[in-house]
Amino acid sequence: MSTTSQAKAERLRQSKGQQKIACLTAYDYPTARLLDEAGIDLLLVGDSLGMVVLGYPDTTHVTMQHMLHHVAAVARGNTNALVVGDLPIHSYDSPAEALENAQLLVDAGADAVKLEGGVRQAEKVKAIVDAGIPVFGHMGMLPQRVLEEGGYKKKGKSEAEYEAILEGCRALENAGVFAIVLESVVPATAQRLTEQLSVPTIGIGCGDNTCDGEVAVITDLVGGYPWFVPPFAKPQANISSDIAQAAVRYKGQV
Ligand code: KIV
Repeated sequence: MSTTSQAKAERLRQSKGQQKIACLTAYDYPTARLLDEAGIDLLLVGDSLGMVVLGYPDTTHVTMQHMLHHVAAVARGNTNALVVGDLPIHSYDSPAEALENAQLLVDAGADAVKLEGGVRQAEKVKAIVDAGIPVFGHMGMLPQRVLEEGGYKKKGKSEAEYEAILEGCRALENAGVFAIVLESVVPATAQRLTEQLSVPTIGIGCGDNTCDGEVAVITDLVGGYPWFVPPFAKPQANISSDIAQAAVRYKGQV
């Protein structure tokens, strides 16, 4: 792992309380290049690519081969941002497997890796961090568990749920993560977690200004996947309509 990757992750960790962290997903070279040139801090090659790029119903179909292909493309388009590659489901079932696959993502061009879950992942996070690879945690709604949970549910609604998420976040913090995604955590709980933790929280679906930064799926931001738009999405463009109109005009010209 290069010292540059570690320095970039450390810079983001230290920005807690100083500066908000802007993160977006990216899955290909041109998008990565555009987002990096726009000054986005962190490009997440999320396993959401399974849905918004590969057409699967959820992230449980994503493999290491998919991730390596897309991490390499994003890394080619990036200069400054921290590139994080998601470890897909069943690629980190033991500390040794987690480290082996984290190293493969790094070899493909990732600066850091992300995995889902708290207490039960702490040993794996530590193995990866001890090898010099920065790790991004992910708590709250865990999309890789969507089938067991029977859908995408809001988290942190009760005091007991807050305590359980906090315990998981603390385990990740102690294992050495540089930041933690909070997904679909109710705003008041996300805010409490942000206040309690020493590492930055990066929110998605947690309300406005409850976390140290935000992450959005790029297709939600640019209107690139019109068939499903999460209720918390704040589209800033409508590229699906632009593409459809361009195709109709092109057909008319042919
Ligand atoms: O896969 C992904 O894009 C993610 C974000 C939703 C945080 O994990």
